Amino acid sequence: MIRLDQRLRCAFHMLRGADTVADIGCDHGKLTAALLLEGGCRRVIAGDVSPDCLNKAAGIIQRYGLQGKAQVRLGSGFTILSPGECDAAAVLGMGGELMMELMEASPHVVEELDRLVLQPMSGVEELRRWLYENEFHVREDRLVPVGSRWYQVLSVRKAREPDPWPEGFPRDCYMVGYRTFRERDRLLAPYCREQLQKRREQLCRAAGTAGEDRLAREVGQLEGIIREAEAWS
Ligand SMILES: C[S@@+](CC[C@H](N)C(=O)[O-])C[C@H]1O[C@@H](n2cnc3c(N)ncnc32)[C@H](O)[C@@H]1O
Repeated sequence: MIRLDQRLRCAFHMLRGADTVADIGCDHGKLTAALLLEGGCRRVIAGDVSPDCLNKAAGIIQRYGLQGKAQVRLGSGFTILSPGECDAAAVLGMGGELMMELMEASPHVVEELDRLVLQPMSGVEELRRWLYENEFHVREDRLVPVGSRWYQVLSVRKAREPDPWPEGFPRDCYMVGYRTFRERDRLLAPYCREQLQKRREQLCRAAGTAGEDRLAREVGQLEGIIREAEAWS
C-alpha cells in the first residue's frame, strides 16, 4: 500500500480506473505506483523535466516491480506524449501558470484526454479562468483541507462549449469552482469564510491603491457564495 497524502489521494480517486495515465511532474512517483498497484490502471507514463526527480520515480517503480507497466520519460509537460497515447493525465503540485503554459504548448495531446487532473499550488484563479475560456468541462472539483492549507483538485476535459454557469454563483468568479457550488459541497462555506477574512484584511490595507476595486469585488462575491451556501443546510 502506497502512502498518499490527502491531496494525492484525491487525485488518485479521480484517476482510478483509467487505462493509461500520464503522471506529469511525477517526482517521487507515488501516484504512478499507487495507480498501478491499487487504482486498476493498466499503464502509467511518468514524466519529469528533472533527471533527479525522474530517478526517484524509477526507484519506486523498481521497488514495487512495476517496470512492465510504468515507463519513465524525461521532458517538459505533455511533449513526452503523442496525441491519444493516454486517456488520462495528472499535473499536480506545480504553479497554475506553468500548467497553462504546458497545456498551451501541447493542445493536440491535451484535447484527446478524457480526464486531466490538475492541482495547482498557485494561480488557481487564473487557471480556472483559462479553463473556462478555453471551454474545458469540469468533471470533478474538490476542496482538500490539509492542516492549515487548502488545496483545490479538479478533473477536466476539453469540450466544445463552456460549462453552463450555475444560477446563484457570482459571474466571473474563479476563486473557487462553480462545480463545488452546483454540488453544494459542504466545504465550500468554510473555505470561502477563510478567504473572505483574508480578502477583508487585504482590502483594509489596499485603501486608495489599484487593487482596491478587485478586492472589494471579491469580498462581495465571497459574501454572496457564503449566503447561498448557508441557506442549503
Ligand atoms: C513539487 S513537485 C510535485 C510532485 C508530485 N506531482 C506531487 O504533486 O506530489 C513538482 C515536480 O514537477 C516537475 N516539473 C517542473 N516543471 C516541469 C515541466 N515543465 N515538465 C515536467 N515536470 C516538471 C519538477 O521537476 C518536480 O518534480
